[in-house]
Amino acid sequence: MSRRALYLACAAGIGFVALFAATRWSDTHTGAALAEPALTGERIARGAYLAKMGDCAACHSVPGKPPFSGGLRMETPIGALFTSNITPDRRYGIGNYTLADFDRALRYGVAAGHTLYPAMPYSAYSITRPEDVAALYAYFKQGVAAAAVPNRDSEIIFPLSMRWPLTVWRWLYAPTPRPFAAPPGMDRQLARGAYLVQGLGHCGDCHTARGVSLQVRALGPADGPAYLGGASVDGWHAPSLRNGGAATIGAWSEADIAQFLTGGANRHGSAFGSMSDVIVNSTAHLTDDDARAAARFLKSLPDTGGRAYRYDPAASLALRRGDADARGARLYLDNCAACHRPDGKGYERVFPPLAGNPVVATATAESLIRIVLAGAQTPRTAAAPAQFAMPAFAWRLSNQEVADVVTFIRTSWGNDASPVEVRAVGRLRETAGRNTPP
Ligand code: HEC
Ligand code: HEC
Ligand code: HEC
Repeated sequence: MSRRALYLACAAGIGFVALFAATRWSDTHTGAALAEPALTGERIARGAYLAKMGDCAACHSVPGKPPFSGGLRMETPIGALFTSNITPDRRYGIGNYTLADFDRALRYGVAAGHTLYPAMPYSAYSITRPEDVAALYAYFKQGVAAAAVPNRDSEIIFPLSMRWPLTVWRWLYAPTPRPFAAPPGMDRQLARGAYLVQGLGHCGDCHTARGVSLQVRALGPADGPAYLGGASVDGWHAPSLRNGGAATIGAWSEADIAQFLTGGANRHGSAFGSMSDVIVNSTAHLTDDDARAAARFLKSLPDTGGRAYRYDPAASLALRRGDADARGARLYLDNCAACHRPDGKGYERVFPPLAGNPVVATATAESLIRIVLAGAQTPRTAAAPAQFAMPAFAWRLSNQEVADVVTFIRTSWGNDASPVEVRAVGRLRETAGRNTPP
């Protein structure tokens, strides 16, 4: 080895050791010193509400196991990991946590001296206010039953399972935790909505696109039009929540959005896929004021432009004349029109309209293909206790037929989205089969 190469190798070695030491130091010195709060009944009740708002159950509770005892399998590109037990169990849960430990996990993404995988949405939670962190802490200490369920090790293999690169990720991408402060003069309800949607609600974890390092590209409106601009997540497409053309909720009023969040459906569409779970576990429990505040904030986002939707009766008139020559029209009449009607307008809050529905107009058709293959059921909430089902067509329609009928709904009644290729259906058929509801 030449002398120069030796120097370089030494320098790289020293650099690596220094980096490693710096990550260790950061993981053991991050966070703020905080005094223990009184665990009053009022604070615990407030924490229970905030836990709904933050949808902690979505990831930390698994059906058939004690609430918040963890164990949900989450796939990542490098292997599966499992969520933690966050019940007050002293051995396996967070029974020995202080408020400072809890705050460190929730807002800084650091627990037990290591950085957490960003599957835990600490980038969003980082703006949670101190009184809300204390209320959540009180709830998880006293309002949740301790469950002695051991944590499961991740299936990520060595050396990828080393956690120090996560510390580097955190330095690069996680914002410095800072309690949300509304800009001076901001309307109280709008400020409440901004706090809820960007913070505990972590809506951007699904609705904002991610970068190559899986970081959420934009954490708030100041970060530009990527914020809530729509993204694909776990085989569903979470559409744009901004104002803009036909593929956004620009045509929805504040009341429409609030109704969707609390009841799972409105005159424009109904919830399915991962949004159904968000509604059942989280947003259906919001007070009317908070649901309205979230809607208000979404309506305040700058317009991203695009052609607005206008109903076009041509497809409906053709179907009524018995003219089913358009690609997929016959399939639509035979399989879909009984519920979604030949005019594509459905029956309000029973069978969603397909005409002018933003989920039909999104650039990617993955949600549409998947819902046709696997079917769906509207979420059951206190505001909408009756459930309506969409049948699965995986066994009845070929890949070509699914592509044709989805193309029909994407190009009829004024919908102006791209046609669907048969290949895309083939790719989704296998995963949709696995996720078919019972
Ligand atoms: C989208 C999924 C998701 C949501 C929502 C979520 N978590 Fe987590 N959480 C995780 C995952 C995954 C881990 C483990 C990460 C790891 O092992 O690096 C975790 C870890 C934690 C830990 C660290 C526990 C430990 O000692 O290892 C705490 C505390 C925690 N979460 C609390 C909460 C609270 C409180 C909420 C609701 C406000 C919440 N989480 C919401 C996914 C989630
Ligand atoms: C776990 C991922 C996930 C999270 C978190 C999430 N969403 Fe969604 N959301 C989706 C998916 C997937 C859809 C598409 C299915 C549908 O329309 O129901 C969707 C659809 C929606 C729609 C309907 C859009 C349309 O064009 O039909 C609204 C409104 C919405 N979400 C609001 C929110 C708000 C507000 C939050 C935060 C409180 C949130 N979402 C959090 C995944 C998520
Ligand atoms: C028995 C009645 C029924 C039939 C037949 C039916 N659907 Fe549905 N469809 C529903 C219901 C109910 C929902 C709402 C599901 C949910 O919210 O989870 C739905 C949802 C949808 C959605 C998502 C829209 C939204 O906002 O939720 C699309 C797209 C869709 N159907 C397309 C089709 C197509 C294409 C066909 C024919 C191949 C079809 N449906 C046949 C009842 C039906």
